[in-house]
Amino acid sequence: MRRAIITGIRRIGKEIALKLLQEGWSIGLVYHTSEDVYRELKALASDRVFGCKSSLDSEQEVKRVVSELSQALGGVDALVHLASPYFPTPLEELTEEALYAHFKPTALSFLFMAKELKPLMQRNKGLIKGRLIAFGDWATNTTPYRNYSAYFVSKGALHTAVKVLAKELAPHILVNGIALGPTVKPPDFSDSKWEEYINKTPLKKAVSLNDVVRLTMFLLEVESMTGELINLDSGRHVSGECT
Ligand SMILES: NC(=O)c1ccc[n+]([C@@H]2O[C@H](COP(=O)([O-])OP(=O)(O)OC[C@H]3O[C@@H](n4cnc5c(N)ncnc54)[C@H](OP(=O)(O)O)[C@@H]3O)[C@@H](O)[C@H]2O)c1
Repeated sequence: MRRAIITGIRRIGKEIALKLLQEGWSIGLVYHTSEDVYRELKALASDRVFGCKSSLDSEQEVKRVVSELSQALGGVDALVHLASPYFPTPLEELTEEALYAHFKPTALSFLFMAKELKPLMQRNKGLIKGRLIAFGDWATNTTPYRNYSAYFVSKGALHTAVKVLAKELAPHILVNGIALGPTVKPPDFSDSKWEEYINKTPLKKAVSLNDVVRLTMFLLEVESMTGELINLDSGRHVSGECT
């Protein structure tokens, strides 16, 4: 039975968790405020779903989470890392606190989870002993938009961590990322603002959750790719112009 830790289960993470359960995986879920989602998933397969509440905001905290979940799961084959705050930080109002509120659960936690998981994954059998997947953002690579500096600086560090870790963890652990485009409307976006975002994609549609799940499953199986950030964004990265 394969075992994954998933961070950030509120929306897209929940769909990935459901698919992994359906495919027979055991899952360790890291939640911050979404205990309800954890309980819902736990009720589906209590022997294969484990949870850990965390704010993922320090090395110590990450150590605790990996230790508790790896013990519950009996080892770890994969990390799917989606945890990421998303709120505006106009530069004039940017504070150190707001920057770290993004940076820690997004980039710091991915880096330190990798550090903690490396020795655990090295114990797994087979040539490929583990896979790490980070959820980034298409705009980080090309055209970050205004008023989200803390978010984009943190996602930028996460994208860099994918490449750094791909090298550090080779040849037995693979590290890849998905640079996601508009998929599920942020709660603070109006319908018209969301429509505007979608219309900027060449394909004129939101990324389907089905595609996100399928690409994640591919990255959990792939054997010959590491250090890659794949744009899954309805082509948004080729249309330029941002706000
Ligand atoms: N939705 C999109 O269209 C879109 C577009 C581009 C990129 N992405 C990326 O794709 C991923 C999933 O997106 P989503 O829309 O499903 O995310 P979301 O609904 O905004 O959820 C964010 C997740 O991050 C977790 N989180 C936030 N701060 C945390 C902290 N301090 N400690 C631990 N967990 C924390 C939340 O946990 P709790 O709920 O437990 O508090 C939540 O599950 C994210 O990385 C996001 O940046 C999404």
